[in-house]
Amino acid sequence: MEVIITSSYGKICEEAAHIIHQEWQKKNNLVLGLATGETPLGVYKELTGMNQRNEFDFSDIVAFSLDEYLGLEEDHPQSFAYYMTENFFKHINIKTKNIFRLEGRPSDIEAHCQKYEEKIKSYGGIDVQILGIGRNGHIGFNEPGSSLSSRTRVKTLTEETIRDNARFFTDEREVPRFCLTMGIGTVMEAKMIILLASGKEKSEAIKNCVEGAVTASAPASALQLHPRVKILVDEEAGSQLTNKDYYKWVFKNKGRVKDYMK
Ligand code: GLP
Repeated sequence: MEVIITSSYGKICEEAAHIIHQEWQKKNNLVLGLATGETPLGVYKELTGMNQRNEFDFSDIVAFSLDEYLGLEEDHPQSFAYYMTENFFKHINIKTKNIFRLEGRPSDIEAHCQKYEEKIKSYGGIDVQILGIGRNGHIGFNEPGSSLSSRTRVKTLTEETIRDNARFFTDEREVPRFCLTMGIGTVMEAKMIILLASGKEKSEAIKNCVEGAVTASAPASALQLHPRVKILVDEEAGSQLTNKDYYKWVFKNKGRVKDYMK
């Protein structure tokens, strides 16, 4: 795990966009896995800026959404489909045929989830998966207790997540109780994972994710088993990390190994 602690939320987003840009330079038809929530918004803004300055061409980029509320139509303002269009897709030159998402009202839920997994595989898997983290340590909508090898499926939201996400709805009772989400096993197959977190309220989840035991009770802790994970946090989200000075030292000295060997 590479833990990158930056001074501000803006810096996390710049760093994440820079990493994605670097990956795109190696592979123009990059397959991205994209998360919703407030945290990745700054990354989508950075990437949009790069696209508009002609530094990043999205015409061969493929995008898969991480999750979706069950029961919401695609054009519902709180659906994740709507979020992705409004906050990212409509501002960049990605092709509609390259955008894949979990539907809020599929006629056959199981078949839809199965097909989604197959679609990801047909593109050679996800190259870079962007993740946020819930206060309870969830990734996607994989709530605590989710199998660490789970696949795309229905999940029931916890009361805490319903309360946390109520801020986007006019009334808590409007928050859907069920959702579709890529499983932890699905996420773990991405070639690179970038998890972002900002603010003190995420500090416990980050502590458990990075330095806690690998357990289904803290779903993000599964990332410890992934070979290419970058955890990007601001000072507040990283404040409970025991080894934060070490992570900072590693980041500062990154790229110096070659000099050291001279
Ligand atoms: C939702 C999403 C997650 C996201 C989490 C945190 O529950 N399903 O993918 O990471 O919220 O969101 P925020 O970044 O707004 O704190």
